[in-house]
Amino acid sequence: MLDRREFMRRTAAAGLSAALWPLTACERSGVGTGEHSGFQPHPPPSGPAREFVRIARPAEVDITPLGMFRRWTYDGSYPGPEIRVREGERLRVRLENRLPDPTTVHWHGVPVPNAMDGVPGVTQDAVEPDGDFIYDFTAAPAGSYLYHSHVGLQLDQGLHGPLVIEETTPHVEYDREATLILDGLLPGPPQPPDLEGGMGRGMMRRRGRGMMEMMDDGTPEYHAFLLNGRAPEDPETIEVGRGKRIRLRIMNPSSSTTFRVAVAGHRMQVTHSDGRPVEPVEVDALEIGMGERYDVVVEAENPGVWSIAASGVGGGPPPARALLRYADASPGARSDPEIPAGLREGRLLGLSDLRSIERDAASERRPDRTIDLSLRREGMMRGAWTIDGQRWPDADPLRVSPGERVRVRMVNRSPHRHPMHLHGFFFRVGDALKETVVVPGHMGRISFEYTADKPGDWFFHCHHLYHMESGMARVFGYR
Ligand code: C2O
Ligand code: CU
Repeated sequence: MLDRREFMRRTAAAGLSAALWPLTACERSGVGTGEHSGFQPHPPPSGPAREFVRIARPAEVDITPLGMFRRWTYDGSYPGPEIRVREGERLRVRLENRLPDPTTVHWHGVPVPNAMDGVPGVTQDAVEPDGDFIYDFTAAPAGSYLYHSHVGLQLDQGLHGPLVIEETTPHVEYDREATLILDGLLPGPPQPPDLEGGMGRGMMRRRGRGMMEMMDDGTPEYHAFLLNGRAPEDPETIEVGRGKRIRLRIMNPSSSTTFRVAVAGHRMQVTHSDGRPVEPVEVDALEIGMGERYDVVVEAENPGVWSIAASGVGGGPPPARALLRYADASPGARSDPEIPAGLREGRLLGLSDLRSIERDAASERRPDRTIDLSLRREGMMRGAWTIDGQRWPDADPLRVSPGERVRVRMVNRSPHRHPMHLHGFFFRVGDALKETVVVPGHMGRISFEYTADKPGDWFFHCHHLYHMESGMARVFGYR
């Protein structure tokens, strides 16, 4: 692994500008004339590109000690292999579909041009088996992102991977970094939500009537929680030197699990939320909803071997784990405790702790339009989830006009939390910039604002895959 801080020091000492790190400037300049006033048109990227190929195909994946699992993968690996580029680089990825079903790739969080957004039936036709498709866009701004299938339940079959766009100049210092992908493992293929009958009979027997309403939201029972595709009994080890700072890019591409994450023996400085830099805030634990990412910096000043763990909020199998091992720990040293105290107690990150360090002139603007949306399920025992009473795909577009500052106010009329995700834009929620925000259950209210300055139909949905598949999606668009 690269020791980044050391490299910076040496190049500075040698009188070099850190020539290998800076990148070409971000190219999202908005030149040219839009068809409509108020658009900042994206020029198609030109010039040399960083090229990648991702082959979507089924594979047998070894998850020690649980056994072999048939997953749908990128390049035979689960999670998919990391794509890493520098801010402002042109990224070209050829998707080859060797699955039995059509598929697409969505670049979760990256404000790509509409045609590159990967939503079947909205921004492109799904890529048929044996077909391919080239995604081509400018990798900006820097941040921790995901790429994943946007077709059916393919996400819960394993079709996701990390996309890292490195900063030219990070606002925090660190020596090393590691990417942590959280997921649930199903024992078999995902089952489509039952739109009419509600909960399956088996689940009713196991859970009893009292739990019915809470559990009847399509969330399947996972066999195990995994970190970087590894079972808790066989954790990945992250080596760290004493006195070093390690940046963890924590990502939750899971289909229906909110995780609580903590590091035993250490606090975490949260430095980025959904890829966007924030004023560092120190916590013992954070909760991360489906689709969210948090970057944290951990200072290694408590030698030994420690668990980095993620438990399911609301239950599920044992916590997913990795190990933080100091280089000077004795070879036989075991992690102690196995489960970090932060999973039960201590300071938990709140949405109001997040303060963007980015200047965002648009946030000063008064909203031109306010859209009120209620999030709910239609009928107690029905599986259908709706946004403002409409169930995707039988739903009208939410109309906005070019260049408008749009305020969206959501109220959650259900007991379940909903991680709501807007494609194509960052929005401001409180003092943070994000594109996925968890709306708490039981009348939880969240409002966000964004500037509708890119043409196209932009998908907006709950990132709980089974809620989305039961209708919890809309499109923001103009005609
Ligand atoms: Cu990560 Cu529309 O999704
Ligand atoms: Cu939801």
